[in-house]
Order: sequence, then C-alpha cells, then structure tokens
Amino acid sequence: MSPSPPPPPDLVRQTAAWVAGARRILCITGAGVSAESGLPTYRGVGGIYDDVETDDDMPIEEALSGPVFREQPEVTWKYLLQIEQACRGAVPNLAHAILARWSAEAWPPAELWVLTQNVDGLHSAAGSRHLIEIHGDLHRLRCTQCDWRARVDDYRRLPALPHCQDCGALLRPEVVLFEEMLPPAATQEFATQLHRGFDLIFSIGTSSQFPYIVQPVLVAKQQGQPTVEINPHETVISSLVDVRIPCSAGATLEAIDSALVASR
Ligand code: OAD
Repeated sequence: MSPSPPPPPDLVRQTAAWVAGARRILCITGAGVSAESGLPTYRGVGGIYDDVETDDDMPIEEALSGPVFREQPEVTWKYLLQIEQACRGAVPNLAHAILARWSAEAWPPAELWVLTQNVDGLHSAAGSRHLIEIHGDLHRLRCTQCDWRARVDDYRRLPALPHCQDCGALLRPEVVLFEEMLPPAATQEFATQLHRGFDLIFSIGTSSQFPYIVQPVLVAKQQGQPTVEINPHETVISSLVDVRIPCSAGATLEAIDSALVASR
C-alpha cells in the first residue's frame, strides 16, 4: 500500500469544528477502516473480489450467497474460511481506537454511533460503544436449525463443514450472505437511530455499494447537515459530500483528533 498523503489542514480544521459542535455523529465504516490492520478490502487492488471467478466456477459473490449456501454449503464455507483466515490475529488500528475513544470518553461531547459493514469484529474489540454491525460478525456462529449459538475467536478448530453439537444440523456464521436480508435487530436499531437524527455524518473506508449505506448521506445532504468522506479513492458519494478527505482513515482521524484536542 502506498503511503497516504497527509490530510489537508483546512479540511481537518473544518471537520474538527463540526465534530466539536455536534450532538449526534454517525460514522459509516467499511473495509478501508480495517485495511490498516492488514485486512484485504473487497474491491480494488488486492481486494477479495479481485479474482472474478473462484475455483468453483462461480463469482465469489455467488459462492458467498444464500442460495449457494443452501445448495452447496461446503462451497460457501470454503470462502468464509478464507475471509476469516484473512482477518485472523488482526487487532484494531488507530482509526478503530479513535472512534472508540470518541464514543467512550464523551469527547467530543456527542453520542457517536458506528454503522459498520465489516464482519471482522474490530470496532467491537476496540471498544466502540454504540455499534451497529449491519453485516454481522464472522466470530458469531449459529445453528441453522436449533437455538445453539457460540462466539469463537477464530475458525482454527472448525472442520471444513461444521455441524451443531446439539442437533447435528449445519452451522453458519451470523453474517449476511448475498441475496439475504439484513439482520432485523441491527436494521431496527439503525432505523431508530436514524429517526432520532444525526447532525454530522462520516463515511469512512467504504465504496458505498449499498443503498442503505448511501441513504443517510443523501438525507443529511437534503437536511443541510454536514457530511464528510474519508477515503483515498473516489466513490459514488464523493461528489455529494461537503468535505472529502482523500487520505487514509487512521492518519485523517488522528489529525482531526489532534485538532479537537488543541481546541479544547
Ligand atoms: P470495499 O472493498 O468495497 O471498499 C473499501 C474502500 O476502502 C475503498 O473505497 C477504498 O478506496 C477504501 N480504502 C482502502 N484503504 C483505505 C484506508 N487506509 N483508509 C480509508 N479508506 C480506505 O469495502 P466495503 O465498502 O466495506 O458485504 O464493502 C461493502 C460490502 O461489500 C462488504 O461489507 C461486503 C462486500 O460485499 C457483505 O459481505 C454482505
């Protein structure tokens, strides 16, 4: 990964002023936030979806889909295992830590919510308090038939096709596969918090592929609330946001954090 340029000071100052004045902040995050923990992103150079076809003669999005899981669970599990292996042993980075600290210390003096698409559990490991894992968490397993559930640190001890110790049915991680519904509890929490409103929205390290990821930015725009994107590359929302900082998540959040501390 080439080093990210330093975030432009004027954009950092503007963003820090918004953060300092906000009461409720939403940070929408994606794989780019975990890139500095050594995890591959999904799209772009070195992304998990780079090789369009898998060894199983289907695109990886199909291998990781609900219909294929039902018909050929061994195929889906094979790629779930690869994704888990890619994040095994990873620890939260500066970006996770700063977002967790902002939410935990009530500084900035706002309620900060993280809506993450990441399934690596790193926001939770960093201690983010108000967290919605809209695509689930790879480390939570559940039985497809009974109520058995467990949390695992990694998949090291799992067989290629794991089954329930209570009823023998197939296990799966609590993640959203393609063509599946989002988890109702997370969706409901997100709707509740959106309804309560946010006065500052960040989009950090996501290519913003899904409507529910873009929509809060569109709504904020319509309502005149500031929006900030932190991403070295342009995305579908880059032309919509008020401030776009084309830099890495860690360095940018660190610069905003320093500006906040300096203004305290
Ligand atoms: P993507 O891989 O689509 O996008 C990652 C984004 O992070 C890209 O726009 C990069 O430019 C940016 N990026 C890379 N390094 C960065 C850094 N150091 N700092 C900031 N940004 C950086 O990942 P997502 O947008 O998270 O869904 O993908 C969304 C969903 O697509 C995933 O949750 C997954 C996938 O299909 C499911 O599995 C359901």
